This record gives sequence, structure tokens and C-alpha cells, in this order.
Amino acid sequence: MPEDTDAEAFVRMLGIEKKVVELPGGQWVMIGKLAERLEKQGGMEALKVDAVVTRAFDKEQLRRAKKRGIIATLKAYSPELANHPVVVRWEQESQPLGQIHEGEYLSIKRVMGDPAHTNERIEFKKRPDVRSALGKELSWDPEDLYGYGRAYQNDHSTVPSGLTVLDPTAGGGSIPFEALRLGHNVIANELNPVASVILFATLDYPAKYGEELHSDISHFGRKLVEKVHAYIQDYHPFGITLCQSEKQRLDEHLAENADFIAQFNKEEIADYLYCRQVTCPSCKAKTPLLNTCWLSKQAKDPWGVKIETSGSGASARYRFETYQAKNGLGPRGENLEHGTVKRGIGQCVHCQQAIPGDEIKMQARGESQYGQWQDELYAVVAIRHQPKLDRQGNVQRFASGPRRGEIKTEKISFFRPPNQHDQDALAAASDTLQANWARFDDQGLIPTEKFPQGNDMRPVTYGVDQWYKLFNDRQLLGHLTAMETLKQLKPQILRELGDERGRAVITYLQFAIDKVVDYNSKQTRWHFGRGVIVGTFGRHDFSLKWTYGEIVLTGQNSGIAWGLSQVLDAYQGISSLTKNAVDLKKQDLKIINGSGVHISDIDDNSVDFVCMDPPYYNNVQYSELSDYYYVWQKRSLKELYPEIAWTRLTNKREEAVANPARDGSARKAKEEYEELMGEIFAESRRVVKDDGLMTLMFTHKAQDAWETLTRSLIEAGWEITSCFPVESESGHSTHQMNMASAASTIFISCRKRNRDNPEPAFWSGLGGSGIQHQVRGAVEAGLAEFRPLRLNAVDQMIACYGRALQVLSKHWPVMDGDDEVSPMRAMNEASRVVAGHQINEITDGRISVDDLDSETAIALTMYGIWGHDEVPFSEVLNLSRSLNTSLENHAGGYSVHGRKVGVNSQISGRRAITGQAAEESGYAAPLIKKGSKLRLTRPEERNLKRLNNPQSDWDVLHGLLIKYREGDVPVARTYLEAHREGNDSTVLDLLTVWGEEAETAGVRNEAKALLFGLRQ
Ligand SMILES: C[S@@+](CC[C@H](N)C(=O)[O-])C[C@H]1O[C@@H](n2cnc3c(N)ncnc32)[C@H](O)[C@@H]1O
Repeated sequence: MPEDTDAEAFVRMLGIEKKVVELPGGQWVMIGKLAERLEKQGGMEALKVDAVVTRAFDKEQLRRAKKRGIIATLKAYSPELANHPVVVRWEQESQPLGQIHEGEYLSIKRVMGDPAHTNERIEFKKRPDVRSALGKELSWDPEDLYGYGRAYQNDHSTVPSGLTVLDPTAGGGSIPFEALRLGHNVIANELNPVASVILFATLDYPAKYGEELHSDISHFGRKLVEKVHAYIQDYHPFGITLCQSEKQRLDEHLAENADFIAQFNKEEIADYLYCRQVTCPSCKAKTPLLNTCWLSKQAKDPWGVKIETSGSGASARYRFETYQAKNGLGPRGENLEHGTVKRGIGQCVHCQQAIPGDEIKMQARGESQYGQWQDELYAVVAIRHQPKLDRQGNVQRFASGPRRGEIKTEKISFFRPPNQHDQDALAAASDTLQANWARFDDQGLIPTEKFPQGNDMRPVTYGVDQWYKLFNDRQLLGHLTAMETLKQLKPQILRELGDERGRAVITYLQFAIDKVVDYNSKQTRWHFGRGVIVGTFGRHDFSLKWTYGEIVLTGQNSGIAWGLSQVLDAYQGISSLTKNAVDLKKQDLKIINGSGVHISDIDDNSVDFVCMDPPYYNNVQYSELSDYYYVWQKRSLKELYPEIAWTRLTNKREEAVANPARDGSARKAKEEYEELMGEIFAESRRVVKDDGLMTLMFTHKAQDAWETLTRSLIEAGWEITSCFPVESESGHSTHQMNMASAASTIFISCRKRNRDNPEPAFWSGLGGSGIQHQVRGAVEAGLAEFRPLRLNAVDQMIACYGRALQVLSKHWPVMDGDDEVSPMRAMNEASRVVAGHQINEITDGRISVDDLDSETAIALTMYGIWGHDEVPFSEVLNLSRSLNTSLENHAGGYSVHGRKVGVNSQISGRRAITGQAAEESGYAAPLIKKGSKLRLTRPEERNLKRLNNPQSDWDVLHGLLIKYREGDVPVARTYLEAHREGNDSTVLDLLTVWGEEAETAGVRNEAKALLFGLRQ
């Protein structure tokens, strides 16, 4: 939020506002149908009171009365709940309202919403004491929660429109989409062809053709689906009767209605599940690799698979059996978690010998003396239907409506082992693929491109060196059939709809195929918790999947029909969102496929606003991943999009990501990323008008990423005007905050810096005239301005970085002696001010940061922000820098010196220790580290020797609590007198804060009792 922004107006412009009627007793929130009845009265919004409104009002009064009853129960349960801020405010908001009268107009007031408080209410509902007070879960009404719609549903008519907005790294186009909806002219630039095509589909076509195009996509989509269905159905065993165990379940269900059994004795296949079969180097028998034996972990119907073996030596055999698990175990008490491969090492089901990871890889690549691994079908996910029975056990039928007289049925999902029909169908699919290979290949439909060198070479390690090898034969046959059908449909579509509209329809049909390609590969995964296949990029990588799923591209559960329906739904959603927006056809939309480093189509000083969500360092290797879709899309869309550069695979060279595989090392990758981003920022500066603005989104929270990004911006000639966290999690007192979760996205706004006037600026100037002083002043002013927004501690810190960077970038370069002051130094200065402010807040002004020793300052701030939760190490490091201290690892005890804060490593699985050894056990340091996380040590985890010889006020606080637990107030008092005689005020203040910020009522009450006792 830039300086001088009216915080409340800003938040309301984002749509975070409620419409209320003010009446004696409180505000009546207009939501749902009521909000739709608002009218304009003399330029003001108003609600006319008629019979409907009166009924709604009476309902509201009743609702409030009911809520007051609930509040009374909560208040009676405990003083803690009675005084809880959520209850106090809820009670105020649940008072009876003054009367309204039919015929009158109630004027509407728009007030700022309070999402932070809403989040507090949502958290409050989860408290165990709230549940036990009410005997059930508390349910909030919509009136009690946000009170406003989701941002994209808002009426944007009040926002200025007609600007020129550029997104230089537009991806799938969410920024340009919103800019179009707001009535701006839009330029969307994107390097990657896959994303560029998506830009046409999200921005251009819905704007041009609106909802009408839906029927064209559906019409030709059905043709595509029907042809694929007809072709593929020969390669699935349809219409077979139920396997023995399911038939038995059906027989039992219909024991009293045996006439119906024949009619329902059939299955529908939904999905197939595969594992890999290797040859055991020890016994030479074939053996399957499964990383789990779970098929369904759904509580109501858990299933597993087991492997039955027979024979011995190389001729040993095995088969799969599926079963319904009981109490988390198999029929013979099998542990379903145990598969036959773990951390890349297999175990033979016959001789139980380990199969080394390298051997498995060699078999995957076909380089082993024992032969090549095979994909093996191990379970079929199927569905059957059965009649619903009434209480008397009779088959139920529809009593009325179009299905009158028909049997009411229910769907039963089950898992069965593969049978001969399945194997025959698979073999038939393989034969057909081979027989038609040349035909598909002649049409250029098979993605035979080599898997390129990149950062994730796991497919190649496991034998996938060409893209088409990511699919089994039947998957590939299905995809090639779909591609061929689309190729055949193309001329007809273009002839009937014309080139432009036709290209749009073909694009969406290709997307339907892409959806299938996504959910039908060897890179998918069966989610046994949800009973669904997880798509290829469930994780953003090419990790090997030991087991994978296949969908059926025909029949009742057709994957291609589903793919089409997904695309149609998405089109429906997008076109309905643009429907009520400003007349999109009139707006200028330019989609450019190229690098943001140089966008030659845009003139200097021509853009009002650059808004970008740039690539984040090495978070996602866009081009490497998108090749998966590209190799298919290119085959259908290449000639339809001459404006896109259809290279062999996607452009990695110019991509602004840190790509060590491309650049040779992590260091060079970093340099290249910084250079490319710097050039994109410089290009954005070229095209922006002098009074224009740039905003970029940033989600990478590591401190050096901040440094890199902000430095590139400043060096490219931008002045940072604000940093703002968006979608922060919750209000100020939560203990679940850290940089990674608190602010999901940070918006950094910049304006062009006047480069001709770089006044020499100095960090520390005489009489407080230096930039350091200005940074502190700006941050302090910011803290006051942000107050109405009730930001949590981390978000507040980020917003203050913006203020610090604003001062620094405005005066750039700033010198401290001969050294240039880095953005990080300015941010650390901001952190110092914010940390001081936070300590002040946490302690209600009782303690100032200057009163505290270094360990206590860190511990107290951490306690106030995170409680005893684990926090990423980097965040505590940030905090420590801001408090001008440094973290120091110690194996055990140590003496505190300088501005150092000790950290011990967490000892896992510690046994109970007694006697002298107990004195020595426990942590000397106030902080403990486990992996990349840090947390505060609890008093009971501390080293007693250290607490008996405390080195900081925090040690004394912990020692005091331990002594109190040992021998009540007298022992605690003796301890306090021994260590802080005549000088105990800081420790007592710490104890007060300890209680006030406690995570549990027990700790809070303990602190209160101890304080009370010490003050007697
Ligand atoms: C974080 S994503 C943008 C996501 C986007 N906001 C959306 O709604 O999908 C960053 C994008 O930058 C693109 N990109 C990477 N290097 C680029 C370059 N040199 N020029 C233009 N775009 C680039 C990537 O292909 C990727 O789509």
C-alpha cells in the first residue's frame, strides 16, 4: 500500500466491504437475496421495506435471539470464553434490532469487511472448550462471517477503466483476464507456446464469441468423443459378469429378491491400476513392485491387495487378490502399508531378497541381463449397481416422475484382480497399436521427440527416453486415436465455422485431449484416500510412479467424455464471468508469444500499468514440464497459430528461471535468472509511461530471493513504492504464522525512478539526516497507517519492508562510507523497528526491546508471534538480524557473549534420565533446531544446571516456572530473589506476557497464580 493511501478505502476497493442497514441495536448485513433487492434512491443505495423484507427482518431477529442463547451458554461455561474477543464482539453484533416499517426506505451503508476477525471466528469454532460447552460444533451463519462475496464476483463499475495494462509473463492469463473484465486494454506476453495458446482460450475466444461458442465446442466435441468411443471399445472387456466375491455380495443383498440378480450381475470398469514387474536377480522369478497394498483408505469402504505366491525358483508364480480391509489390516493380519518396494529398493515376493535400485533401473531401461521390466495390471477399479431396498427388504421403485416404475439403484465401487478378459483386451490394444504404428507415424501424430536434457531426468533413468514412452500401449492407442480423429475433424470444423471460430473450437478440443493425456499416463497416481487418479503433475516434476492409473476412454466412465465436460465447464465459467463485464469486444487485446526481455510490438512510454506474476527463481521449470503437453498440442495447433513460435520443444534458452541444467551450475543459473529478470524489468520500464506503475507478485519468501528481486528492480530504474501481503491468513494473535504460510502473495509496486537526479545519499547522516533515519521514520509512520488493517506480525513486517525499500530506492544508490547499502540492510532496519513495535505490543508497552538481553528479545518475540510452534530457520534468522543479534549453534551448554543467541539441536527419542544425569540433560539454549526448523524450548525441556545459573531474563523466567512447579510460590520466590533481587520487574513483566500469550488455559492459569503469589 503506497504511502498516504487511505487504508480503509483501499480495502473497500478490493471488494472487502459489507452492505449494511444501520438500525438501533446494530448493523443488519445485506447478503443473498436481500442484497439483490437494493435499489438506487436519489444517488444513494436503499432497501425498500415490503412484505419480503419484513419477513427477512423477522427471521434476522429470530436468528439473533438464537445466537444470544448460544452466546449465553458459552459465557456460562467459563470466564475465559465469556471474555474471549470473539464472544464479546459476537454478542454486540447479535443484539435485537430496532423496528422497521413497510413502505419506508432503509439507506444502505458500505463498511469495510473484517476478514481477519472472520478467520478468528473460524478458528474459535475449532476450540475444544467451545465444542464441549455447546455439546456439538458451533455453526456460524453467513451473516456472522465475511458478509461479502468473493472478489471476482464483485461489481467493478466504480473502478477506472480504459488503461493499457501489460503482463510481460502472462502464463495462463489470470492477470490479463481480470484486467479485461475491469475494462482495460490488455497486452499479454508469454514465452511458452502452451501458455500462449491458453491465453487465446481464456482471453480472446470467450471475449469474441461469448457463451454461444459453448454449443459449437459441445457439438464437435461429441463427434470426437463418439469416434474415440467406437474405436476404443474393442480394447476393454465390457459387459462381463461380476467376479465371484462381488457376485456373492450381490446375492446376499438380493437374497429375498433373487429374480433381480441376473439383471444386476455385471460390472462397469472405471480405472485400471498398474505396478511394475521385474525379475529377481536372486531367484530369477518374476516379482511385482508395489509401494503400498492399499487400494482404498476411505473409512467407509477400505480395500487392499495381496500377493499370493506359488512354486519355487525361477518358475515361481504369483497372483493378486483384492479384499475389503478390516481394522486397517488384511484378512491374515497383513499390514497394508508394506509394499514390495521402498526408497527405490525392491523385495522379491518369492525369496524375499532385496532387489537393488540400480538393478531395477537397468531392467527399466532394458539393460539388465535379467530382461526388461514390464507394466503389470494388478487391480481393476470397477462399479456395479444394485437395487435399493426399503425397510422390509423390497426393491424400491420411483413412484412418480419420468422414471416412474423404474428400480431405484445405488452404485457400489469395488476392486478386483485382473482376469483373462482384461489381459486379452490389453494384448489386443498392443497388437492394434503395432499394426497401426506406421499409419499414425506417417501422419506425424506420435510424439517421438527425445526427452531432452534437463533438471529432472528420472524418466530417462527409468527407460523413458522419448515422450510417447510415458504411456502404456492402450493409453497411447487412445490418445493417438483422439489425435487422429481431431485431425480428421479439423477441415470440417474450419469449413463450417470459419477460420477464426474454427481455430477456437479446435483449440478447446485439443484441451479435452490434453486433459486425457494428463490423467492417462504412467506418471499418474492412484489416490487411495480419495479413490481417484491424480494427474501427471500432481507434483510439479517427473518423479517415477511405482504404480499408476489408466482411465477408460469409452463406456459409462469415459475419460474422454469427462475431458470434454471439463473443458465445457471451464468455458462456461470463463464466458459467464466475462458476460456482465464491460463490452469486451471493444477492448484492445494483444497476445504476444515471445520473451518479455524484448517486446518489440510495444512502443516506448505507451503502457499505463505493468502487472506481472513473474517466474520465481527455480520454483517451477515451466518449459521442461510443459513439453509434456507441447508435444501433443504442436501436432494439432501448429498451422493454426502462425503467431506462435513452434520450435521442436519449448524454449528453454530464454526462459527466466534459474535452470542449472541449462546454465551448467547453480551459481550460473542464479546469475542468468537475475540477468533475465533484470532485462524484463528494464523492458517494462521502457514501455511504461512516466506516470505509470508496475506491480509484481512475489511468493518466494527466502531472504536472498527478496534481496535479488528488489535489487534487480532498483537497478533497472524502478522506485519501490510499496510491498503488500495479500490473502493473509488471520488476525494478530494466531500462533500458526510463518513467512511461508502467512502471506500467500506479496505485491510489490514500483514507479519509474528519475535516473537523472541521483543525489548522493548517505546511510548515516549528521543529526539524524541520513537515510537510515528516514527508513526508521517511514516504517514507524507505516505501522500507524497499517493499524486499521489488523495485519498479523509477519504481514506487518512485509508491509514495512515496502516502506524501507521506498526510501532506499528513491535515493539509490545509498552509501555507508565506501559501501553501497543493500536492500537487505534497509529491510533489516525495518525489521528492527517492527520487532521493537511488536515487543511493545505483545507486552502492552511494559517492555521495550532496549531493556532486553539478546536471548530474551528473540525468545519473547518468537513467543508472541509463533508460540512454541516450529518455524523455518530462515525466518528466525531474519528476526535475529532485525534485533541485531546472531544465532549460534551449540552442542550443549555455553556461556552467552555479545549479541549472540544459542541454539541446540533437538535430541530425538530421548530416554528418561534421572539423578545427576538429569541435571545435565535438557537444553541449555532457549531455541532448538530440528532439520530446517526452529522452535522455542519449553521450560520443562530446559537444562536444570543452566536454569540454576541463569544467563538471561528468559532463563530466569523458565527457572521461576520450574521452581514453582517443584515447590510452589516460596521456592519460586527464593529463586527469584537469588537471581534478580531488587531488580525483578522485567522478569515479572515477562511472566505476565507469558500468561497472556499462553497457548493453553493451564499455562495461563499457572502464570496468573504464580504472579499473584509473588506479589503478595
Ligand atoms: C508465475 S507464471 C505466470 C502465471 C500466470 N499469472 C497465470 O495466471 O497463469 C510465470 C510465467 O512466466 C513465463 N516466462 C518465463 N520466462 C519468460 C520470458 N523470458 N518472457 C516471458 N515469459 C516468460 C513462464 O512461461 C510462466 O508462464
